[in-house]
Amino acid sequence: DSSDEEGEEYLFKVVIIGDSAVGKSNLLSRYSRNEFNLHSKATIGVEFQTQTMEFDGKEVKAQIWDTAGQERFRAVTSAYYRGTLGALIVYDITRRTTFDSVTRWLQELKTHSDTTVAKMLVGNKKDLANIRNVSVEEGAKLAEEEGLFFTETSALDSTNVNKAFEFVIGEIY
Ligand code: GTP
Ligand code: MG
Repeated sequence: DSSDEEGEEYLFKVVIIGDSAVGKSNLLSRYSRNEFNLHSKATIGVEFQTQTMEFDGKEVKAQIWDTAGQERFRAVTSAYYRGTLGALIVYDITRRTTFDSVTRWLQELKTHSDTTVAKMLVGNKKDLANIRNVSVEEGAKLAEEEGLFFTETSALDSTNVNKAFEFVIGEIY
């Protein structure tokens, strides 16, 4: 369980969801290993990373799950969401279809989660703002309507990546 001789410890599960190629795996690799891959392959099944951080002098571990955006590669949904306390719902600011999918991802999350989930809407690929198709205002508006936190990130240049994960984990804590 949660306590041992080293004192209290927390383990939180966070999932990253969103359409294929929005940058979920690169957000996770940027956050957990400070790595980015321009030619990353589509995720098949599920991967996760455990990240340790400190809040108020207490050790907090986040188990961050990353799954395939492509339907045919997705793992069984209910197993993926079980025990989730935080979620990053990611779209690509250069592809409107990925933004249009956000409500569907939120619905799936709601269907499969049994507790309150801290949710962050993430508009990724901020470095490509010159070819954006979704404005910051639209992202902020959707977040407000759906009761989500909101940020734009770049896994490529690291903008707001740590902030996005740590905010969600901090909200759970
Ligand atoms: P699936 O696993 O298929 O669901 O995709 P994914 O959401 O995990 O996307 P992935 O992280 O594999 O990234 C897809 C492509 O977008 C790759 O070519 C990445 O290099 C690129 N990419 C990811 N994040 C960024 C970003 O912030 N900026 C730019 N310019 N490209 C990015
Ligand atoms: Mg992936």
